[in-house]
Amino acid sequence: MPSLNEIRSTFLNFFEKNGHRIVDSSPLVPRNDPTLMFTNSGMVQFKNCFTGLEKRDYVRATTAQKCVRAGGKHNDLDNVGYTARHHTFFEMLGNFSFGDYFKEGAIPFAWELLTKEFDIPKDKLLVTVYHNDDEAADLWKKVAGLSDDRIIRIATNDNFWQMGPTGPCGPCTEIFFDHGDKIAGGPPGSPDEDGDRFIEIWNNVFMQNEQFEDGSMRALDMQSIDTGMGLERIGALLQGKHDNYDTDLMRNLMEASAHATSSEIDGPGNVHHRVIADHLRSTSFLIADGVMPSSDGRGYVLRRIMRRAMRHAHLLGAKDPVMHRLVPALVREMGAAYPELGQAQALIEETLRLEETRFKTTLDRGLKLLDDELSGLPDDAALPGEVAFKLYDTYGFPLDLTQDALREKGREVATDGFDTAMAEQKAKARASWAGSGEAADATVWFDIAEKNGVTEFLGYDTEAAEGQILALVVDGAIAPKADGKVSIVVNQTPFYAESGGQVGDQGVIETETGSARITDTKKVAGVFIHIAELTSGEITKGQAARLIVDHTRRSAIRANHSATHLLHEALRRALGDHVAQKGSLNADDRLRFDFSHSKGLTANEITRVEAEVNDFIRQNTSVETRIMTPDDARGLGAQALFGEKYGDEVRVVSMGRLAGSNKGADKATYSLELCGGTHVKRTGDIGAFVAIGDSASSAGVRRFEALTGQAALDYLNAQNARLIETAAVLKTAPSDVADRVRALAEERKALANEVAQLRRELAMGGGAAGAPEIKEINGVKFLAQVVSGVTGKDLPALVDSLKEKIGSGAVLVVADTGGKAAVAAGVTADMTDKVSAVDIVKAAATALGGKGGGGRADMAQAGGADASKAAEAIAAAEAAIGA
Ligand code: SER
Repeated sequence: MPSLNEIRSTFLNFFEKNGHRIVDSSPLVPRNDPTLMFTNSGMVQFKNCFTGLEKRDYVRATTAQKCVRAGGKHNDLDNVGYTARHHTFFEMLGNFSFGDYFKEGAIPFAWELLTKEFDIPKDKLLVTVYHNDDEAADLWKKVAGLSDDRIIRIATNDNFWQMGPTGPCGPCTEIFFDHGDKIAGGPPGSPDEDGDRFIEIWNNVFMQNEQFEDGSMRALDMQSIDTGMGLERIGALLQGKHDNYDTDLMRNLMEASAHATSSEIDGPGNVHHRVIADHLRSTSFLIADGVMPSSDGRGYVLRRIMRRAMRHAHLLGAKDPVMHRLVPALVREMGAAYPELGQAQALIEETLRLEETRFKTTLDRGLKLLDDELSGLPDDAALPGEVAFKLYDTYGFPLDLTQDALREKGREVATDGFDTAMAEQKAKARASWAGSGEAADATVWFDIAEKNGVTEFLGYDTEAAEGQILALVVDGAIAPKADGKVSIVVNQTPFYAESGGQVGDQGVIETETGSARITDTKKVAGVFIHIAELTSGEITKGQAARLIVDHTRRSAIRANHSATHLLHEALRRALGDHVAQKGSLNADDRLRFDFSHSKGLTANEITRVEAEVNDFIRQNTSVETRIMTPDDARGLGAQALFGEKYGDEVRVVSMGRLAGSNKGADKATYSLELCGGTHVKRTGDIGAFVAIGDSASSAGVRRFEALTGQAALDYLNAQNARLIETAAVLKTAPSDVADRVRALAEERKALANEVAQLRRELAMGGGAAGAPEIKEINGVKFLAQVVSGVTGKDLPALVDSLKEKIGSGAVLVVADTGGKAAVAAGVTADMTDKVSAVDIVKAAATALGGKGGGGRADMAQAGGADASKAAEAIAAAEAAIGA
């Protein structure tokens, strides 16, 4: 009996043998189709290959595609667990031809695989074809030898497959297996076709048309093939089972669930194990593909599935979280075919454990409330919508979880009341937001958010994606098409909107009819606003658009943001635990980090911080992201912004490993921070880190500025070029520049001293103008001299030398400083009780047309307006001494 893993391989190998390229499954979040919540069939990744928009280097492909059907149009969540063939997660096996073979190739391949490789008895198979598809009917007759009664013509959409309201489509042929008359049910197209006797196992679509939004359809230039076979179904069939959950893989997961909950796999808990096994697969694969539980969009679908599984674990009597303990079993079963599962195992386990731990605290109380409410109602009455809303709002019960709980009791929720309560809550949120003082023109974004929901951000793991244009805003008002400067809102985007210090992304947005340059991205009320300028053609609301982030710029921003985390930790280690983030900027050209610290950093501290950051860059370890509650994150020691309000869940980014640490994983992590930004994959991607400044930002806050990657290299190169130029000017080698400059500085200082000395000597006349005569006034010796070619600054030295010359007495120097005058007086210490230099200088300054004068009794200085009055100044000084 082949296992599901073997059946998958047999399928892929068969088509590979027949010239097909085995292509990896695409992620569950479709990057190329904004209209889809999750990838729900094999052709999603190839949709543009059918219309000719995209060319690959192969024309035949085969895949095992991960698919999720929950939320959105194809929603199987409600039935999962209770039926034989419903799943939220399943694998679709497919073979594809892009303009290569058509019906004449597909039908023989299908027949050969089923009857030869899988060895299914021919007489158990029958097919349907679209009512007017004679070609397919004839081929079946010829290739498989099927009689007319086993080729059933169907005129409905069942045999005309469409990807969605628009896109490639065409007639299809479906292959059915007949379980025999021991099971009730009729062949396809018959009144009792819904019975379980005839099971569809494979759909082969003949892609030949494209459907447009206006209802028109065109014939495609090339004819292609898209087939889809659910692995679980064919697996059940080949393993002789009627129920997909009885296949080896599903059974092994259910065993793990039974083991973890110490319950019987086939007892009354069977349905719970089925739910758990299915939901374990969808939640784990979604997390591995980057979806995180949240209160909106894809994240909310994930949360709904997780919580539904958790309630079933609870019904099995599990006291502690269960789901995360089943992940190893899933990785064992499916990790070889889908390596992303193993790679994300830690993230999956932690996300499940967190969600379950948190939900457990309200699950009991919510279920009790539900029971109390039900016991107060007549037996068959629906649960009032307000109660379901309270369960949602206060206890975290998604509506379908409440419905699932009621299903066992044969009861329903009055959903109208739920919707009304939800609408009221939204109106309240809006009112309180409007009152929060935000700009009035921002209401347009709130309107958009309310109508379309928040924007889904895909930019953690992709820089290009398709989105659908939901709104265009020109001059603050909704507009039908873009014009000049325009703000564009799409349902999903890879563009990061400015927040947490990280600048918004730039790039381009293109539709079939036009393109625009995105110059910035911002976020209001959860709506991402792409601020753009139309560059060609026109862009209209409703169009599908391709959004491409400027890769070089984003890479530089990422490097700066990750470097900021390393810097934060390095500063804490170098300066102390008081270092807390006060602000930051992560732009493409630089990073800035403001932190609490009261004094400037020493050169040593800067060097140490810089070296440590570079050590962790070179360590080149991977940067990990996890989701947890703010409390758990703080418990792990993650750095959070003090006073910042965090939601229920936070992203925790960790990087760097401490050498030789034998502590747990989180204790051995160098940097652990709450952060919603985008980061490098490995620290080595930062390239290099160079500090360019430490300055005071505000009281008690320092600002550290740095460069990374190419910008750091450019900076160092420019510094180096300047050094080389300086060395050339100095006529020395770059390595000797410092010594050379030091020597020059010393030389300059000596020369300056010499010049000052010479100037003084020159000023004193060097004896040439005759030594000034010493007078004696009132018993005080007085010597006055008029000088020029000096400044006021030189006067004290001149006064000192005159004082020395007379030994005891008073001196006066009047300097001609180019028309104006400077004057200084000095009195030797033994004479200061007789006369004060201040009085002398004041008298002289007045005579020179100046005012004031200040200093001490032994030395005072002043200025004057007119140097030609030197003689009058000397006379005034003499008078002052004589007074
Ligand atoms: N696209 C078709 C389906 O989903 C065949 O793969 O059924």
